Amino acid sequence: MIYFDNNATTPIDTAVVEAMQPFLTTFHGNPSSLHRHGRVVKTAVEQARQQVADLVKVNPDQVVFTSGGTEANNLCIASAISSKKHHILFGATEHPSVSEPIRHLSSSGFIIDELPVNKEGGLNEEVLKNSLRAETGFISVMHANNETGVIQDIAPLASLAQEMGVIFHTDAVQSIGKMAVEFNSLNVNLMSVSGHKIYGPKGVGAIIHDRKTPLEPLFYGGGQENQIRPGTENVASIVGFGQAAQLASELLEDRSKHLLALQKSLEQGISDISGLTIVSSEAERLPNTSQILLDSVDGEMLLMQLDQRGVAVSSGSACSSQSKAPSPVLKAMCVPDKLALSAIRVSLGQQNTLQEVSDFVSILKEIVA
Ligand SMILES: Cc1ncc(COP(=O)(O)O)c(C=O)c1O
Repeated sequence: MIYFDNNATTPIDTAVVEAMQPFLTTFHGNPSSLHRHGRVVKTAVEQARQQVADLVKVNPDQVVFTSGGTEANNLCIASAISSKKHHILFGATEHPSVSEPIRHLSSSGFIIDELPVNKEGGLNEEVLKNSLRAETGFISVMHANNETGVIQDIAPLASLAQEMGVIFHTDAVQSIGKMAVEFNSLNVNLMSVSGHKIYGPKGVGAIIHDRKTPLEPLFYGGGQENQIRPGTENVASIVGFGQAAQLASELLEDRSKHLLALQKSLEQGISDISGLTIVSSEAERLPNTSQILLDSVDGEMLLMQLDQRGVAVSSGSACSSQSKAPSPVLKAMCVPDKLALSAIRVSLGQQNTLQEVSDFVSILKEIVA
């Protein structure tokens, strides 16, 4: 079985499972309890906070654990509610966990505008400058796209927002662990991250904040996570996320080199298939993501045929794999609908090998032929 769907989720690292195990068995305490059972798990949660903070080069008090990237995005967007300015801008290729909560706000009086991208999926300062208004209070632009792997140059966009006193959020769920991501260098106020894209467990993520942006809890209860995200902590998953973040910090260079070598071999291998295009091949992309368009091919059929041959890829985004509509990301990049429906996304992981890439290239060529 060849698993090339690592942007949907990554397999959990064995070191992560080992780190989590005692917190599912031996150490069952509640981190809020003052006795020793509580203290031991509280220490583990704080160690995980430090590990996540180290990955993005912030202080641990800037990390708030959530139930994943989706909640982190929703929580960051909720900060727009506390702003007196009611205009929100967001990138046209954002993940639904950003675009949907923002659309939802339009029903409570917020005015929302999408920031268009160019044909390569890039968003430039000029576009942002032209869309900013005196009433703009919140901007969200993703760091790396889950379908195309396109990396946005966030710092100049965020700096523009800072000059205007506008809150800037970036969804870094797909970029952490695949490239160096330093919160402070991006110049953003808020950032979202997730555990299961970096070989950690599902159902855990975090927001990274600059300490000065007012954060609005999504729900109310005990005072956990500094009153921002109440509820008894998902201790084992937080510990697993911390371990995954530590591995990502330690192995970042080796992992991204390995991914790049796989991606180069893959894209070279398929380059002679007629009618094939690699989306955003001219743009700066993640070292693991290649979205492929194939003239006159149905992407979903191709996905099923690849599955029958033991290869797992995705057609467009995994989160929208139920629908047959062309990907909104490709639509925003002006890819014609018929061609967009041929898309398959190959997303590589640290566990993949050059042999798997070579087998995939042969299988794809056989199916297309
Ligand atoms: C760019 C991006 N943002 C957010 C999410 C949601 O993260 P989670 O699955 O942890 O809720 C995903 C998941 O695919 C994603 O790719």
